[in-house]
This record gives sequence, C-alpha cells and structure tokens, in this order.
Amino acid sequence: MAADLPSSSSSSGVARALAHHHQAVLGFLLGLFVSLVLYTTVSGQFRSTSTIVVLQSTQAERTGQISMTSPPPVSSASSPPNNSTQVHDHIENGQTGEVIKTTGKEDLEDKNVAHATDVNNKTGNAQADKIDQLGQPANNASDKGYLIRQDGADGNNGSVKHGAPGKPICDLSDPRYDICEISGDARAIGVNRTVLYVPPAEERDTDGQEWAIKDQSRKQLVDIIEVNVKTLSAAQSLVAPECTSRHAVPAVVFAMNGLTSNPWHDFGDVLIPLFITTRAYDGEVQFLVTEIQSWFVDKYRLILTNLSRYDIVDFNKDAGVRCYPHITVGLRSHRDLGIDPARTPRNYTMLDFRLYIRDIFSLPPDSQGTPYKEANKKNETDGIDDGTEKQKPRLMLINRSGNRKFVNVPEISAAVQAAGFEVLVEEPSRDVRLEEFSRVVDSCDVLMGAHGAALTSFFFLRTGAAMLQVVPWGVDTAMRYFGVQAKEMMLQDVEYNIAAEESTLYEKYGKDHPMISDPESIHKQGWELTRQYFWLEQDIRINTTKFASMLHQLFQTLA
Ligand SMILES: *[C@@H]1O[C@H](CO)[C@@H](O)[C@H](O)[C@H]1NC(C)=O
Ligand SMILES: *[C@@H]1O[C@H](CO)[C@@H](O)[C@H](O)[C@H]1NC(C)=O
Ligand SMILES: *[C@@H]1O[C@H](CO)[C@@H](O)[C@H](O)[C@H]1NC(C)=O
Ligand SMILES: *[C@@H]1O[C@H](CO)[C@@H](O)[C@H](O)[C@H]1NC(C)=O
Ligand SMILES: *[C@@H]1O[C@H](CO)[C@@H](O)[C@H](O)[C@H]1NC(C)=O
Ligand SMILES: *[C@@H]1O[C@H](CO)[C@@H](O)[C@H](O)[C@H]1NC(C)=O
Ligand SMILES: *[C@@H]1O[C@H](CO)[C@@H](O)[C@H](O)[C@H]1NC(C)=O
Ligand SMILES: *[C@@H]1O[C@H](CO)[C@@H](O)[C@H](O)[C@H]1NC(C)=O
Ligand SMILES: *[C@@H]1O[C@H](CO)[C@@H](O)[C@H](O)[C@H]1NC(C)=O
Ligand SMILES: *[C@@H]1O[C@H](CO)[C@@H](O)[C@H](O)[C@H]1NC(C)=O
Repeated sequence: MAADLPSSSSSSGVARALAHHHQAVLGFLLGLFVSLVLYTTVSGQFRSTSTIVVLQSTQAERTGQISMTSPPPVSSASSPPNNSTQVHDHIENGQTGEVIKTTGKEDLEDKNVAHATDVNNKTGNAQADKIDQLGQPANNASDKGYLIRQDGADGNNGSVKHGAPGKPICDLSDPRYDICEISGDARAIGVNRTVLYVPPAEERDTDGQEWAIKDQSRKQLVDIIEVNVKTLSAAQSLVAPECTSRHAVPAVVFAMNGLTSNPWHDFGDVLIPLFITTRAYDGEVQFLVTEIQSWFVDKYRLILTNLSRYDIVDFNKDAGVRCYPHITVGLRSHRDLGIDPARTPRNYTMLDFRLYIRDIFSLPPDSQGTPYKEANKKNETDGIDDGTEKQKPRLMLINRSGNRKFVNVPEISAAVQAAGFEVLVEEPSRDVRLEEFSRVVDSCDVLMGAHGAALTSFFFLRTGAAMLQVVPWGVDTAMRYFGVQAKEMMLQDVEYNIAAEESTLYEKYGKDHPMISDPESIHKQGWELTRQYFWLEQDIRINTTKFASMLHQLFQTLA
C-alpha cells in the first residue's frame, strides 16, 4: 500500500516512467548510465586493493564419489515463458541493448568520467525498433532452464538424468545477460577460464562449438571478462583433461566484479540474479567465482552461504579440473534490481526476496508489524496505555556525503522530530556490517534518503514500513530504481519531489537557467550533461515547511 501523498504520489512516478519509455531513446540511454552513476558516485573511494582470499574448496573430499543430486522440490510445472509475459520488462530491456559498449576499467574507477560516452548519440527509430525486438522473450529461452527441466516440464516425471542428452545451451538472446547450461559431463578449469562439455560417445561431432560468455548480469560491461564454454569435438573428447575432482551438485560460474561496490549494484547485478539463478537449488549448488571480491564475500556472507552450502571457489586461481553433473555459466537478470516472477523457477517475487533476506539475517518474521505498530499493539494488550510517554515511529535519515547530499540536516532532523518521529541519522559505508545494520533498519518505520544506493537497505524494512525517497531536481528514475521495487515488496513508497528552489542548482545558476526552467531540455542534450548537473553537482536543501506537511501525512499512515 502506497501512501496517498498528494504532491509526491508515486503514480505520477509511474506516469513519468511511462512517458520516459515512450521516449525510447532517452530511456534507453538514461537507464543504464544513471545506474552507473549510482555506482560511480559512491564507489570510487571504496575500491579496495585488498588481496583476494583464496577459498579452497573442500568439496572434492566430501563428494569424492559422484552421486546424483536430488532435484529441487517439484513445484507445479510451469510453462515456458511466452510472449505475453514480459510487457512490463520493455523499459528495462530497452536500456541494455547489446549495442551498448562501455568504456574501460579506468573509467569505472574514476568518479568523474562517464562510462559509456560512445552511446550518447545512439538515437533514432531503428534503435527503438531494436529495443522492442529485444524486449520480446524468446519462447525457448532457457530462462527456467535446468530447473524447469528438472521439474519435469519437458516431459520427464521429475527424475533427473544429469547425463541426459543435450549440448551445452548458450543462450545469447537476452539483452541483459548471456547464459550457458551444460548438463552431463561438464568440466571447469578455472585458471583457463574454461568450461568444457564432453558429449557422450554417441553424440560426438567432428566439430566442437565455442562461446565466450560474460558471466554476470550485465553482459555489456567491458569489465566482465569472458569465460569460454566449449563443446568438445569427437577428437577433443578423446583427450579431454581428466577430472581432478568430481562433485555431486551443480555449479554456477559468475563474476563478482563489474559495478559491484554500492549496494544497488551489489544486489541488482549479483545478489538478485544469483537468487533468481540458484535459489531453487536450496543450497545444493557450488559457486565458482571469477574476479572474486573478498569484501563482497565478507559483506554478503550470510546470503552467499545460504544460497550455496558449499565453499566458494576462487575460480581464477583454481588449477584443477572440476567435474560437475551440471554447470551454469552466467547469471540471469530480468530488470534493474528486480525479478519477473514468471521467469523464475518458483515464481519468486521481490516480496519473496525481501522476506528471504530478512530470514537470512534473522530479522523478526513478517507477521510482526512495523516497530511502531507493534509497540502500540503491545501496550493495548498489556493494558498499560496510560498516556505516559509514547514510543514514536522511528525514521532513519540517510546522510549522504559527496553529491546529492542534504545541506540542512539539522533543520530536516528538527522537522522530522517536530512531526512526531524519532530520528536516527546514519551514514552507511561500504564496510558497514550488515548483521548489525540490518537490525537498525528493521527497527525503523521509515527509511529516508535522497535518490541513491543507500536506499537499497529497504530490503531490511518490515512490511508496511515506508521508504521515503527524496527525489532531486531533474532526476526521473525514482520509480524505476526504487519505487516500483518498494511497492512490489509491500513497503510504502513515498516520494518527496523537491521543488527547484530546494535544489542548490537554483542558488547557483538562477531560475532562468534551462536546468531549472526546463530540465527536459538538459535531458535532451544527453547523459553527460544530465549527469553532471542533476546527479553530481546538485545538493538538496529541503524546505522544511513544505516537507512537514508530507511528514504529517506519513505519520498518519504509520499509526
Ligand atoms: C503462451 O501461453 C499460453 C497460455 O499458457 C499458451 O496457450 C500459448 O500456447 C503460449 N504460447 C506460446 C507461443 O508458447
Ligand atoms: C550524432 O550523430 C549524428 C548523426 O550520426 C552526427 O551528425 C552528430 O555529430 C553526432 N553527435 C555527436 C555528439 O556525436
Ligand atoms: C528457439 O527455437 C527455434 C526453433 O525451435 C530455433 O530456431 C531457435 O534457434 C531457438 N532459439 C534459441 C535461442 O534457442
Ligand atoms: C518416473 O520415470 C522413471 C523413468 O522414466 C520411472 O522409472 C519412474 O517410475 C517414474 N516415476 C513416477 C512417479 O512416475
Ligand atoms: C589450460 O590451458 C593451457 C593452454 O591452453 C593448457 O596447456 C593446459 O593444459 C590447460 N589446463 C588444463 C588443466 O587443462
Ligand atoms: C537458508 O535459509 C533458510 C531459511 O530462510 C533455511 O531454511 C535453509 O536451511 C538455509 N539454507 C542453508 C543452505 O543454509
Ligand atoms: C507461476 O505463475 C503462473 C502464472 O501466474 C502459474 O500458472 C503457476 O502455477 C505458478 N507456479 C507456481 C509454482 O506457483
Ligand atoms: C508502551 O508502554 C511503555 C511502558 O509504559 C512505554 O515505554 C512505551 O513508550 C509505550 N509505547 C507506546 C507506543 O505507547
Ligand atoms: C552528515 O554528514 C556531514 C558530512 O558528510 C557531517 O558533517 C554531518 O555532521 C552529518 N550530520 C549528522 C547529523 O550526522
Ligand atoms: C517553503 O514552502 C512553503 C510552503 O510550500 C512556502 O510557502 C515557502 O515560500 C517555501 N520557502 C522557501 C524558502 O521557498
């Protein structure tokens, strides 16, 4: 349920998002690059040079003998995705057409350099047509791939045959990601970035086949280094490298680099895609990670160790020949920080994901109301509501530093308190310990921040709690990057769209500058300018008078 807040109604956000979509080109460009800025503007200072921890697998010992893994529990067999399933994915798909190329790694580490300047000029109807085509799902896209086949949807009754006929299927059709599914005799050689399929003798061909796969969810990123997937020819099969370890469970090869470093990308590019790709294995899967990031493994250990109960393998350094009954190379992804339930093995939704995350972090079950409601309820049942000082709803105020920061935090805090809230000012860094931080977020009724990656902490909120997004002047991705997700996860999605006067750009450039009088004209001039003005140069001075009326309404919804 979204708060009915007049000037901030999120339906206007939807309208904007749709309007945005109609300007296919703009949407196409903005979508990706704006997300890159979420990354660049937060992550630069955090790039770590720490050495990577080698996580040696002990799985070889534990599963010295091959035994067939049991399939994930059979859910009702669902049909393959067909062309009616993806209408709402067009906007997102549109952002990531395969024509996109990003610039080099240096740029990714430089806060002030655009990632993808070479596509700013990709305009015109040809491009729009292409987007629409890309948005169409392939009927045979192996989106539910391996898991579906296990679930019996393709004719067997659920008994899995890992050695079942089938060549490696590398599906390059999705605009966001490439993926390979290899069933049977699959061999992974980490130091060679190679995954081999050795076909059974009767199926061998004189020719092999080979793919180069970017093993993460944004296949257009130059940073993601390809993994080679090969079907061996008859001749090659005879001299295939011998297994040095055999494993009973499937493996998934994926990269941990790319745009990871800020939570929006950590979740959107890796953790949610990993959830989509592997959750149905119920932990019975091993991760072979390319470009492993020790900080990422540490920070998200709870999630990673739940999705896979086996040791994470630092694949770049792994010299063995690891043999699995099934290997997936790559991660599926449906949209920015999102899930399309129809394309997942068990119809997972974003709500499922939030509840899963809460579960993993041992936060209270969903039957618990928001902290404020819960406190009210307790006192009612205890009959001690004697009018003594009441617990207040608690609002976490994310205090960004750098760009898009609030320049009048003390005034905002005072307004929040005056409206009846307890306020908690937080500045989560990349190294924040999520085990603790998740509890703090869980204890809040409202998570407030300017459009930016820190709002990704909304996964730790309780059902019915509010995400209060302060939308900077000229920024129009509020719904797409956070609002839609908040709604899907049964959080209140509240947007406070600042007026021009609340932007420091107004003071700096005056009311007659086009960026104030006509932000759309800036958008039309391309991402570089849009980014420079609205994303990097702008800070926010909230008009607390105006803001107070919204706070009062929000307060009502929480009682
Ligand atoms: C699409 O789904 C509908 C309903 O499940 C089904 O009747 C139809 O055959 C499907 N179309 C394709 C092309 O799979
Ligand atoms: C964009 O493309 C048009 C036509 O291809 C070209 O004339 C124009 O110079 C390009 N603009 C930029 C900024 O590259
Ligand atoms: C989908 O199936 C059709 C025919 O069944 C085939 O021509 C096409 O190559 C397949 N596409 C993919 C991505 O497998
Ligand atoms: C499933 O199929 C296998 C082999 O086709 C057969 O042995 C088994 O009895 C079947 N199980 C059920 C429950 O139908
Ligand atoms: C890795 O590749 C190199 C060069 O192609 C090859 O000599 C070596 O045998 C490969 N390693 C394994 C384990 O196959
Ligand atoms: C993952 O977490 C769920 C609870 O959400 C738990 O039931 C399951 O056993 C965990 N799996 C692993 C592999 O730890
Ligand atoms: C997934 O959703 C589809 C369509 O909404 C439905 O037909 C199917 O039964 C669902 N599958 C599961 C496992 O819930
Ligand atoms: C409930 O009662 C306790 C003890 O009187 C008090 O500290 C707390 O603030 C009350 N909470 C609410 C929401 O009234
Ligand atoms: C917010 O952050 C700024 C700088 O990043 C800092 O100076 C200020 O003290 C912080 N405010 C609070 C209330 O923590
Ligand atoms: C703040 O907002 C109030 C109410 O909308 C308005 O009357 C006032 O002029 C604004 N103050 C400034 C400094 O813009």
